[in-house]
Amino acid sequence: NGPVRVNMANVDSPLQIFVRAKKKINDIFVEIDDYVKDAVSFMHAVSGEKGIATPQDVANVEAYVSKVQAIREVLKRDHMKVAFFGRTSNGKSTVINAMLHDKILPSGIGHTTNCFLQVEGSDTNEAFLRTDGSEEKLNVQSVSQLGHALCASRLQECSLVHVYWPRELCALLRDDVVLVDSPGVDVTPNLDEWIDQYCLDADVFVLVANAESTLMVTEKNFFHKVSTKISQPNIFILNNRWDASASEPEYLDQVRTQHANRCVDFLSRELRVCSPKEAEERIFFISAKEALLTRMREREKPVSSPILADGHQVRYFEFVDFERKFEECISQSAVRTKFAQHSRRGKNIAADVMAALEQVYNSATDRKTTMVEKQRLLHEQLSAIEEQLTTITRQMKDKINRMVESVEHKVSLTLSQ
Ligand code: GTP
Ligand code: MG
Repeated sequence: NGPVRVNMANVDSPLQIFVRAKKKINDIFVEIDDYVKDAVSFMHAVSGEKGIATPQDVANVEAYVSKVQAIREVLKRDHMKVAFFGRTSNGKSTVINAMLHDKILPSGIGHTTNCFLQVEGSDTNEAFLRTDGSEEKLNVQSVSQLGHALCASRLQECSLVHVYWPRELCALLRDDVVLVDSPGVDVTPNLDEWIDQYCLDADVFVLVANAESTLMVTEKNFFHKVSTKISQPNIFILNNRWDASASEPEYLDQVRTQHANRCVDFLSRELRVCSPKEAEERIFFISAKEALLTRMREREKPVSSPILADGHQVRYFEFVDFERKFEECISQSAVRTKFAQHSRRGKNIAADVMAALEQVYNSATDRKTTMVEKQRLLHEQLSAIEEQLTTITRQMKDKINRMVESVEHKVSLTLSQ
């Protein structure tokens, strides 16, 4: 079984809002880059001997080249980030695997995920791992050791492992979604550190709760901390393991209502991150395990335990519904938070360069005016001199004429004596 490629023409996915916006803003920055470089060549052309632009003018405009370059680098790497939290064994890793359509992250009973695992698209289309701060590419098989609490080579709980997975194998990764798996919020006292290190740039948070029990204080506390550090975080609540309800059908509706009410209350009244109406759209009852199994089967991957409990199709549809709402939310939020800032900076840079060019233009115009004025004065002076000369010459001529006349007169007088 070779890799099964996802349908590449996924044009109606809500993630395309982000993908298209990213392409557009990248194109705009290519134009800004050209504009700034043109401005630099212009400045060079009018500086030096011509002396219209000063070396300071040139340096000012040149500084924008690296600024634009830096923004373009950030833009290329900009992505949508979703972080999953919840108590140990609620199924965080299984939810991520189901969304990725493959068993990529380690999952299992007990305390499994031992550190932060960030799954992102690999540009080279090969699968590999990298620990934070190291360039060494590790075999992807080792994720089950590095990230697993039961393995000797495990990392510290607040360390980060990057898992690079071929983009062509997963639509989410292809469209620049980065998924962050975490250890259970109940196994660490370092929640603040986690939030500061991994959550401040997350566009969406998913609380993976256990529908077999109820929202727990440790989970609630974590999100209270998140909402003090991030204004209006986007939070989804997945009531996972909902397949358990199949064995107790007589209470199914009541349990669902109980969970839903508590979750709505938590998001709208406790955290105040959304209205009760919006909160209802953020709560789902799913079975990640079933969703993953269904998808593994679709891809003809060998799977065990083929029997799914009653109602699995409804739960699967709800999982797909969650994915769609999640995609809408994350792409809109990421466009707003990430690109709004870049486009503001782009506008400022264009305006600043324009102002610098205008300043040079104005000083050139000033110089032209001064030169024209100087010429006019010179011209006036010359005319005055010319006039003086004419008068002087006329006077001289008269004088000479008079002298000649008097000489002639004297000569004729002398001759006639
Ligand atoms: P830690 O990494 O230890 O914090 O746990 P986790 O939240 O990542 O849970 P994980 O995905 O490892 O799942 C724990 C166990 O629950 C695994 O054995 C999963 O197969 C199982 N599991 C996950 N989701 C479901 C579900 O929807 N229904 C059922 N019945 N089991 C599930
Ligand atoms: Mg896990």
